[in-house]
Amino acid sequence: MEKTNGEVLYFLLSLLLSIFLFLPISECGRAQAMFIFGDSLIDNGNNNFIPTIAKANYLPYGIDYGFPTGRFCNGLTVTDYGAKLLGLPFPVPYLSLQSKTTEILQGVNYASAAAGILDATGRHYGGRISFNGQIALFEKTVTTQLPFLIPNLIKLSDYLSSSVFVINIGSNDYINNYLLPNLYSTSREYTADAFADLLISNFERQLKSLYMLGVRKMLLVGIGPLGCIPSQLYQHNSTDGSCIEIVNKQVSLFNERLVPLLLKLNSTLQGSFFVYENIYDTFVDLVQNPASYGFKEKNQACCGSGKYGGQLSCLPLQVPCAERDSFIFWDSFHPTQAANKIVAERCYSPLSTDCLPISGYMLAQL
Ligand SMILES: *[C@@H]1O[C@H](CO)[C@@H](O)[C@H](O)[C@H]1NC(C)=O
Ligand SMILES: *[C@@H]1O[C@H](CO)[C@@H](O)[C@H](O)[C@H]1NC(C)=O
Repeated sequence: MEKTNGEVLYFLLSLLLSIFLFLPISECGRAQAMFIFGDSLIDNGNNNFIPTIAKANYLPYGIDYGFPTGRFCNGLTVTDYGAKLLGLPFPVPYLSLQSKTTEILQGVNYASAAAGILDATGRHYGGRISFNGQIALFEKTVTTQLPFLIPNLIKLSDYLSSSVFVINIGSNDYINNYLLPNLYSTSREYTADAFADLLISNFERQLKSLYMLGVRKMLLVGIGPLGCIPSQLYQHNSTDGSCIEIVNKQVSLFNERLVPLLLKLNSTLQGSFFVYENIYDTFVDLVQNPASYGFKEKNQACCGSGKYGGQLSCLPLQVPCAERDSFIFWDSFHPTQAANKIVAERCYSPLSTDCLPISGYMLAQL
């Protein structure tokens, strides 16, 4: 049968269109999307939409990004640098999504400042999306938003299993729960070991529910040495500025349990691939050898007040330090983008030192 020019043109156009439409999901062997779960270390704007005092949508936050975005940093977060190193755009904050947007095909960020593994964590800040809440939103993405964009179930499951899922949660269960005895009772109810067990058993259930939703490649970030952050130095009346060892010991109990959990899940959840990002040792090294990384201030917040800048975190329109790249800490709780860049390069570049058993880069290629 002869085809008319119109039919040929129509055929070519629809071919082009289908290549264009399916490019993001058919290009095999490389993650096309990055999904992010966690707290203020990687929240890139979700809390802007939530009634809470845990917000960073004002200057000087974002001063080196160009404008405030809701990131708790002067510039980029670790996962921003991670996305760049994987060649992906920054995943959009879930709460900023318009309905039926195609943006979610390249990933979504569900992270929320003040959130924890436990639902009660961070409640004194007001609203926040706990890790359980973030998983519930992701379930909504998988069951109602993604099928609209990827109607074929096999393609949808391929898309999910090739995407990288970064999970960075747990710090607030310490600094905004266990370590605040006046506001939370957990430190009276649990020894530090029992509390780490409690967090890990919740975390295990949460990771399994992500697996049940089709998630396969998970990059789990350990908790950093929270005893070294300016707010802890202030609260513990540190006189010499050295890290608060008891706090570092407590969060290490979590990390020590996280690694065996990851090995267990990796071998029991078929087709899963777990990577552990050890940020604890890197931050200890940054704080102990700041000069070798180009830092001049190891424990002083660039924006904050009181000793170490740890009494009150960065306030609206407060004038931050001028040499932001020479500080490890941006505010009382969070690192500068200069520190975040180092941490990201040590996991997401092909030759990683901090991610085991393979780099975030290799995980994306699987
Ligand atoms: C720090 O000093 C304040 C004021 O002297 C005191 O109330 C508080 O208990 C001290 N904190 C610690 C952890 O020692
Ligand atoms: C997880 O399992 C895969 C095989 O499915 C294996 O290649 C990888 O090394 C395992 N990861 C860890 C951390 O043991």
